[in-house]
Amino acid sequence: MWRPAPGSPVLQREDLHLASSTCETVGSFYTKSTFILLSKQSVLIHESADLSSRVAFLDMSCECPETSPEPLSPSQSFQHHDQWQSPAKYKLVTMSFVEYGDTIKDGDTAIVFLGHESMFPVKVQHGSMTQTKYGVIRHSTDLIGKKYGSKVTCSKGGWVFILHPTPELWTMNLPHRTQILYSTDISIITMMLELKPGSIVCESGTGSGSLSHALIRTVAPTGHLYTVEFHQQRAEKAREEFREHGVEHLVTVTNQDVCKNGFGVSNIADAVFLDIPSPWEAIGHAKSALKAEGGRICSFSPCIEQVQRTCLAMEEYGFTEINTLEILLRVYNVRTVSLQIPDLGKAAEDNSSTGFDSSNPSHQESPCGNLQQGTVQFKSGVPLREVVGHTGYLTFATKSLV
Ligand SMILES: C[S@@+](CC[C@H](N)C(=O)[O-])C[C@H]1O[C@@H](n2cnc3c(N)ncnc32)[C@H](O)[C@@H]1O
Repeated sequence: MWRPAPGSPVLQREDLHLASSTCETVGSFYTKSTFILLSKQSVLIHESADLSSRVAFLDMSCECPETSPEPLSPSQSFQHHDQWQSPAKYKLVTMSFVEYGDTIKDGDTAIVFLGHESMFPVKVQHGSMTQTKYGVIRHSTDLIGKKYGSKVTCSKGGWVFILHPTPELWTMNLPHRTQILYSTDISIITMMLELKPGSIVCESGTGSGSLSHALIRTVAPTGHLYTVEFHQQRAEKAREEFREHGVEHLVTVTNQDVCKNGFGVSNIADAVFLDIPSPWEAIGHAKSALKAEGGRICSFSPCIEQVQRTCLAMEEYGFTEINTLEILLRVYNVRTVSLQIPDLGKAAEDNSSTGFDSSNPSHQESPCGNLQQGTVQFKSGVPLREVVGHTGYLTFATKSLV
């Protein structure tokens, strides 16, 4: 268990990263200006959202070093800060897309896995039932209290796995309200924007929240996502999902036109991401949102004409290192392939050239697999007949100091 340095109840920002990775975290949330991390033995309070100030450490265990302050209960500690809202308003996060939980609980979003190409999300609720092709799953008896990863037998005798949600599984299973970004593009976006825990990111539009969930997981537990969506219902639905997925403290959803009104923040972002029809109209706002000392931007567009206008706008606003990429994924299936053994005449009869005798059982397990009736069978990686082709172009650039 992590401890503060003896005699030092006040900690630096590095301590927060260390603490969050080593404490057995049971929950975390933001108030207006405070980040609070609750572990089984401690409460960490960070007094500013951008983590530039110091954090206080309140140890609730009995084993405090003598030099530490008197242990405080959470309610006592809340009284010390008059700008804090009532702790009763906050419920401990029981399931979260940014950390793994062991046991399925009422209110969780879980993934029902029937096969690699057949999954769906389910909101776990006492008394609810979910129909599958293998029969009914009863939430109260089949899900709640079971471990994530369990094999659950449905009413017709078939079984499914119940998986803990992740951003990747959510991208594969989320309800589509718009076109979405997939994991292939998301992975390169995360790397090229240099995102890490603690990063501040601005995004527009939120759309179906596919990218947002991945960004939130990357910047957690101390970073923040500001996401702007001008379609009111989509913005509300995104807020609702972030709340249900235990990540609302890591994201602010704003319902406005990013091209007219920007991101609602200035000089705080490490990175900006745009997935809107006219990104060139938002480049000026992106520049204002990025930190004065610089940062990275990425814009996703399906058409090359959009890319051209966006690159020109980036250049006009002084962005450098402008690069456009298209990322294509090639998936292989492992298949047993049968090939006819060519008739090579007499040479083939005595198998002197191949060393294989298809009539000899000891050669049935040859490196090429079974030899049966003039065919040879072996395992091979086979590219899919249909692959997802072009989705869009990713244009990256840097806001430099000068
Ligand atoms: C393709 S979707 C984004 C999908 C998202 N990246 C995802 O992975 O789920 C584009 C979204 O941008 C929103 N949008 C378009 N123009 C906008 C603007 N000027 N300001 C804010 N949102 C905008 C649309 O309403 C739509 O929801």
